[in-house]
Amino acid sequence: MPVLDWIGKKAVVNHHREVPYRLVHCDGARSAGDPEAGNLLVHGDNLEALKALLPYYAGKVKAIYIDPPYNTGNENWVYNDNTNSPEIRSWIGRVVGKEADDLSRHDKWLCMMYPRLRLLKDFLTADGAFFASIDANEMSNFEFLVKEIFGGFKIITIPVVNNMKGRNDKGYISTCHEYLIMAAGKDFVSAGLPLTQQQQAVFKYADEEGYKFDLRDLRRRGGDDDGAKRVNLSFPIYKDPKSNNLSIDAIDGWIEIIPLKSDGSRGRWRWGKTRVEKFIKTLVPSYVKKNKKWNISYKVYLDSNRESLIFSDDPSDYDDDDYDDETGDPIERTTKPKSFWWGPELSTDNAGKALKDIFGGTKPFEYPKSVSLIQKILHLVGDKNALILDSFAGSGTTGHAVLDLNRRDDGNRKFILVEMEGAIAQDITAKRLELVIDGYDRGGDITAPVDGLGGGFRFCTLGEALFDEFGDIAAAVSFPDLAAHVFFAETGAPIPARADSGSSLIGLHDRKAVYLLFEPAVQGVPREAAGNVLTPDALSHLPNPPEGFTGQRIVFAEGCTVSSERLKAEAVIFKQIPYQIEGI
Ligand SMILES: C[S@@+](CC[C@H](N)C(=O)[O-])C[C@H]1O[C@@H](n2cnc3c(N)ncnc32)[C@H](O)[C@@H]1O
Repeated sequence: MPVLDWIGKKAVVNHHREVPYRLVHCDGARSAGDPEAGNLLVHGDNLEALKALLPYYAGKVKAIYIDPPYNTGNENWVYNDNTNSPEIRSWIGRVVGKEADDLSRHDKWLCMMYPRLRLLKDFLTADGAFFASIDANEMSNFEFLVKEIFGGFKIITIPVVNNMKGRNDKGYISTCHEYLIMAAGKDFVSAGLPLTQQQQAVFKYADEEGYKFDLRDLRRRGGDDDGAKRVNLSFPIYKDPKSNNLSIDAIDGWIEIIPLKSDGSRGRWRWGKTRVEKFIKTLVPSYVKKNKKWNISYKVYLDSNRESLIFSDDPSDYDDDDYDDETGDPIERTTKPKSFWWGPELSTDNAGKALKDIFGGTKPFEYPKSVSLIQKILHLVGDKNALILDSFAGSGTTGHAVLDLNRRDDGNRKFILVEMEGAIAQDITAKRLELVIDGYDRGGDITAPVDGLGGGFRFCTLGEALFDEFGDIAAAVSFPDLAAHVFFAETGAPIPARADSGSSLIGLHDRKAVYLLFEPAVQGVPREAAGNVLTPDALSHLPNPPEGFTGQRIVFAEGCTVSSERLKAEAVIFKQIPYQIEGI
């Protein structure tokens, strides 16, 4: 596979491994709504924020959406769109070293994106998907980057028209679109998109219980439609001349209906004889005046659950009331998304106006994405309990889209947002979320209140690194912090539940029971007395893994005084902290 090279690449390909794990602190005063809602807004450079969140969320995120700076060169927006903010400039200087002086704008952008994308990938579930907005400035480079990092994923690029009028560009082409790149994990299954009003209007008939349906021709049209070749699908159906009753068997005096192609030759039905016989009551005959012949249609329901009920081979599989067992919702028919997206709901101008309304008439942020764009992605992903990550949060559109969709479809999606600029994170991202959670007034002369969506989020900041420059555990590190880190480093999976210093058994994963003996540093208390050493006595008192556990017990502690023979006999592996924690 061709890969992209650029100045500085060597310095960044493995850089994600060197990024320190930091503590994450929640700031109640800057949070809003229900803090237990499970949503996070992290203020910090996403490289460090993602690394800090990895031990808690690796392999748990169903959808990532990012809208990184497009590298337009514009430095006058509320954020810097030239990979030239002081934070990123200094980061590139440190990571790339001397070569950094020779980097072009594009090299810098690629250096910035590579390790961040590399970390993002580790958050995805096997059935998850990554989505990124990007425009022509970096599109061709970005596609290579995504292909390299998300190897084995299915990559799709969707042009998105977000400016119907076209931009007032300097060049001779007026840009009206950008792109959405999607990288779908190997087990990703698209849930499709809800039908638009126009698509729903097609279902213009209603059955006796009021369920909407449309009629489709039972004759096969085009392609494999030759009745002479598919004789078993080219059988007559009989109609009672006095009613719309149909029969598969010939009845004296009934009208014979044969599938005919438009040229009058023998065609074939879409359904086989057995299916026609089974569902004959659902078929609808109609008289075509033009060729003075009868034809037959089948029903396609708007509510696909209604259709399943009718056409199931075993209707007893379905609930009497046609509603989803788990959610109680009627199952709506969906449509396959097109490879090209457009429509006023995706317009950046409209998104800007909507954001201005939220902020009472002042424009806080240039070019926010539309809530509808993110919701289109959320629909595709489907899962109403999905965890969604956006590590270039900007004005917080992704958080808003999640809260709004949850409200409308009773979903329980959660979000994690990361924003680097302090002024944006606090005054725009957090403020917008707070306003939409609590409700706001659109501003202007007449009051126009908008109801709150409910929910909430915790505002978090990044604290010190877990390990200092000598690899020692920092004084501020608590038992649950270190437990999450140790468990992730040992198993590659997030800790199953927040650890409690009352138990040294911090979790089980893949035939490993992981233990941590750790009391945060207490001045003047020897390590052994603090309980940080695996002694013969401590070994005897380790909590037992659940019954039936046959794997190994891995014990992390600062020291060990148990003989290697006894460790072997008890299937215990001792790992010294901090030196034997992988990845520090
Ligand atoms: C194009 S904007 C995102 C806009 C967003 N989709 C919306 O609808 O409002 C990119 C955002 O990413 C932020 N950003 C840039 N580099 C970052 C980094 N390294 N870590 C976190 N955020 C970053 C910028 O400050 C800016 O707010």
